[in-house]
Amino acid sequence: MYKKGIFVATSFAVVTGLVTFFSGTTASKAADIDANKLYQTHCKTCHGADGKTTELGAGLGARDFTDPNWQAKATDEQIIKQINDGTPEKMMPFKEKLSQDEIKALLPVVRGFGKK
Ligand code: HEC
Repeated sequence: MYKKGIFVATSFAVVTGLVTFFSGTTASKAADIDANKLYQTHCKTCHGADGKTTELGAGLGARDFTDPNWQAKATDEQIIKQINDGTPEKMMPFKEKLSQDEIKALLPVVRGFGKK
């Protein structure tokens, strides 16, 4: 239990470090929108910091963003729509919380988890 806690804390630190590293080097095109930060703030509780569904997310029925089958099937429109509208009792809608530009900026973040 104690050891597992350390492991989880360590892997979280590694992932956070990687995300910080990559967002610093690659994702600076959309000027003032930090999409990786938006993702880490609003999405990771269910979809995981690295796109791998958390226990909470899986319990609610969320798919793994790192799954190539899911990536191949999901269209950009579906992803944008899902973030806007959510699913009742599963995922809250974000259209009131985030701007359309922010929602669009999250698309490459979600897609990015599929590219390994
Ligand atoms: C409270 C947990 C929760 C949060 C927070 C959350 N989601 Fe979801 N999300 C889900 C669940 C559950 C589903 C599956 C919904 C369904 O089956 O219709 C889902 C579905 C999705 C899907 C469609 C793929 C799939 O798994 O079915 C996308 C894309 C998505 N979420 C993106 C996001 C983004 C981006 C954010 C942050 C802005 C976010 N979600 C925040 C729970 C969450």
